[in-house]
Amino acid sequence: MEFDRWVADLPKYFAADGDIAMSHVLAVLSSTFPEGEKFFVRSVAAVRDQITDPALLADVEGFIGQEEMHGREHQVLNDRLAELGYPTRGIDSYVRGLYWVRERIQTKKVNLAFTAALEHYTATLAELLLTDEAARQAVGKAGARDMLTWHALEESEHKAVAYDVYKAVGGGEVMRIFVMLLTDLLFIFETSIMGVISMAMDREIRRHPLKLARSLARLPQSPFVSLRAMRILAQYHRPGFHPNDRDTRQLIAEWRQALFGPQGELTSLRVS
Ligand SMILES: [Fe+2]
Ligand SMILES: [Fe+2]
Repeated sequence: MEFDRWVADLPKYFAADGDIAMSHVLAVLSSTFPEGEKFFVRSVAAVRDQITDPALLADVEGFIGQEEMHGREHQVLNDRLAELGYPTRGIDSYVRGLYWVRERIQTKKVNLAFTAALEHYTATLAELLLTDEAARQAVGKAGARDMLTWHALEESEHKAVAYDVYKAVGGGEVMRIFVMLLTDLLFIFETSIMGVISMAMDREIRRHPLKLARSLARLPQSPFVSLRAMRILAQYHRPGFHPNDRDTRQLIAEWRQALFGPQGELTSLRVS
């Protein structure tokens, strides 16, 4: 997929209606993706030799290929966001440093538990984007929307892989749910702090305080922080939950067709 042209044309406030706060939140999230996805790949690849199920091994290869591609595309977008003045490089360095430290402290199983938890976050975001026109509209510019829809589609396709790998290496329910609770805290805390820093560094905002206040007031009504989003996220905390309990096969097939046409090959990843 060709993103270079629309990335070059991206305006500073690219979210729908030039929404300042939503643009900053999306820029912050995109900034965390390349290093985050590298961490996911390392976590899963680190236990590849312990997986005996050939179907799961094939899923792992697909997962690694998709996440590496996402990281590269987000890097292109993040470079443009940096040009526009977003602190994407600072966030990227912070995330790289944080994972560097954590991977030296945590076991392989804990790394996988964090990967599986964050994959539920991306799967939730993906399901919202793929099912809710309002969520797609909130992303704004058509190019950004296409990129995120494509990313969302692949996140839905491989949403169970890290979870299955975690289980395959003997990961238990107590650790899985505890790590999800930590992930919830970290995600809310870090996204809020980074969002505040990103906005505080934006000189243009200072000239439009009213516009910013209105934009911040609109944020809680966003489809990404809706009750439905919270409900999907919360399911992961339930003992016995499996990502494929939410059956998104039909959704994936429809979007593959919409984005790649009838010739678009369906992924080899297992979705059931
Ligand atoms: Fe991804
Ligand atoms: Fe993913």
